[in-house]
Amino acid sequence: MLCNTKEMLQKALNEKYAVAQFNINNLEWSKYILEECQKNLSPVILGVSENAIKYMGGYNTVSYMIKGLIKDLNITIPVSLHLDHGSSFESCKKAIDAGFTSVMIDASKYEIDKNIEIVKQVCEYAKTKDVSVEAEVGSIGGIEEDLKKEAHLAKVEDCIKLYNATKVDTIAPAIGSVHGLYKATLNLNYKRIKEIKDKLNIPLVLHGGTGIPKEDLKKTIECGIAKININTELQVVWSKDVREYLKNNKKIYDPRKIISSAQTNMKKIISNKLHIIDSCNRI
Ligand code: 13P
Repeated sequence: MLCNTKEMLQKALNEKYAVAQFNINNLEWSKYILEECQKNLSPVILGVSENAIKYMGGYNTVSYMIKGLIKDLNITIPVSLHLDHGSSFESCKKAIDAGFTSVMIDASKYEIDKNIEIVKQVCEYAKTKDVSVEAEVGSIGGIEEDLKKEAHLAKVEDCIKLYNATKVDTIAPAIGSVHGLYKATLNLNYKRIKEIKDKLNIPLVLHGGTGIPKEDLKKTIECGIAKININTELQVVWSKDVREYLKNNKKIYDPRKIISSAQTNMKKIISNKLHIIDSCNRI
């Protein structure tokens, strides 16, 4: 069932667990994620970046592919199709018009008033189509889609200002996590998450879920995180397993065998994450 993130994240916030956003890059990843989340009865958010959308053919291709998989695989868990780090109103509109049920507008590179203005425009359009909206406050650092971002923690007053002006559904505050593999020691600001949660009482999003130890993930949920984004971890295991498979199977040329050689380990990671963030059996 394709739906927006409102109900699934509100339930997660109330019951203190988190819903996973796994990023997708192709048909195979989408299929593994849907199958594993269905097996664990976990609601799921399929995150797609603008570059991944372009790679797969476009907004409509992704939307029809996911709708087709949900139907053909008999997926009954709540699934949200979410634009990850939408860079403009136009990009969010394209996703919404193609049938995405949730969008992130990342205007965090602008100062807060401009960020608010863009988020507001997206929220107004999204509301007419029952699509949920996520905004970023502060700047989540690291490497995302080849772009390096400097990290700046979210200010509580900026989150309040943005929420009051837009009534956005969720906020991804920069709280010390980074996209991609961690080079420095992890330093999450739990106090900041809790302060924002106490003021707004809306589901908060943790970006950069790769490489964050189990206990830290659980602590962020205690403080108010209701959605956790994971991307790099799946990419790392996929590339490692495919390299290994090609090395050990020099005569195989069937692309289906090569591409799916990482299926077992990817599914293990997906299932393990769902158990850590306690989203199993939540539907
Ligand atoms: P990682 O690539 O660090 O897992 O982060 C994913 C993410 O936050 C997508 O928006």
